[in-house]
Amino acid sequence: MSGREAVLVTGAAGGIGQALVKTLAERGYTVFAGVRGEAPALAGLPGVRTVTLDVTDPDGVEAAAKQVEQEVRDRGLRAVVNNAGVIVQGPLEVVPPAELRRQFEVNTYGPAFVTQAFLPLLRAGGGRLINISAPTARQPMPFLAPLSGSKAALAAMSTALRMELAAWGIPVVLVEPGSTATEIFDKSGAAARASLALADPRRSALYARHLAAVGRAQARQRLAPVDPVARTVVTALEARRPRRLYVAPGDARLIGLLTRLPVRLRERLVAGILGLTGIKAS
Ligand SMILES: NC(=O)c1ccc[n+]([C@@H]2O[C@H](COP(=O)([O-])OP(=O)(O)OC[C@H]3O[C@@H](n4cnc5c(N)ncnc54)[C@H](OP(=O)(O)O)[C@@H]3O)[C@@H](O)[C@H]2O)c1
Repeated sequence: MSGREAVLVTGAAGGIGQALVKTLAERGYTVFAGVRGEAPALAGLPGVRTVTLDVTDPDGVEAAAKQVEQEVRDRGLRAVVNNAGVIVQGPLEVVPPAELRRQFEVNTYGPAFVTQAFLPLLRAGGGRLINISAPTARQPMPFLAPLSGSKAALAAMSTALRMELAAWGIPVVLVEPGSTATEIFDKSGAAARASLALADPRRSALYARHLAAVGRAQARQRLAPVDPVARTVVTALEARRPRRLYVAPGDARLIGLLTRLPVRLRERLVAGILGLTGIKAS
């Protein structure tokens, strides 16, 4: 490997991860791109090496860390970016247990496994840990209870870890994208429809009007491009004294304003924005 600084990015096959890999490679980093399968868009990019990495598999994560260590040796890593993530959505009452587990396995346990395996390389490289959060970590959303819980847990874990790693001067940073145009919504929509199809129809029917309203609100949502998110991660990665939270341009910034309001008012506003106000039990 060349003397360039090296970064690991998980969930690099598409969306924000892929944009970040490309941005980092253009800036001269060696990028280890964690992928679960094929990643044709990354093949042959200068400075990019793909690494097989399913974040939910601790043994596989350890093996990936060993593979990266063999390449970087005592230069270690400049950063690990825990980007892999999924959305599990729907009324919590009818979310199947396996889906609930998948949400936390990918979004919460996954970053923990990756952190455990790669910390020695961050220590060696004087590097930092960057965890990709979501606005739902600070303002949980109805019908996104699994996602909200998984990202809030990731944020809490990041805060604890920041204090644990202070002695080594390893910063732990959260980056919060807003609503961003990636395939994550199509994938989560398909999974939610499959879950609803398996649920007790008498119970899922209770939420028909809620889900129709949320669907209309989602259709109105404007999705931002991936590149500003990638640039925000680069800022977090290169800042001499990084902040604990970077919020990408776009609607995530509204969440900061929302969280300053009293909880009851905030929840009324969220219900209003999603078109849930006034829906009564049927
Ligand atoms: N898009 C948004 O509006 C938004 C907003 C806030 C936060 N975020 C966060 O941004 C991050 C990236 O999301 P995105 O929007 O770019 O979604 P995306 O396009 O669906 O990308 C997510 C990536 O995670 C990977 N992944 C899923 N399960 C994995 C596993 N078990 N092990 C390793 N990789 C796995 C996916 O790989 P496969 O292709 O193999 O499934 C995919 O490459 C996530 O943490 C997400 O929560 C996104």
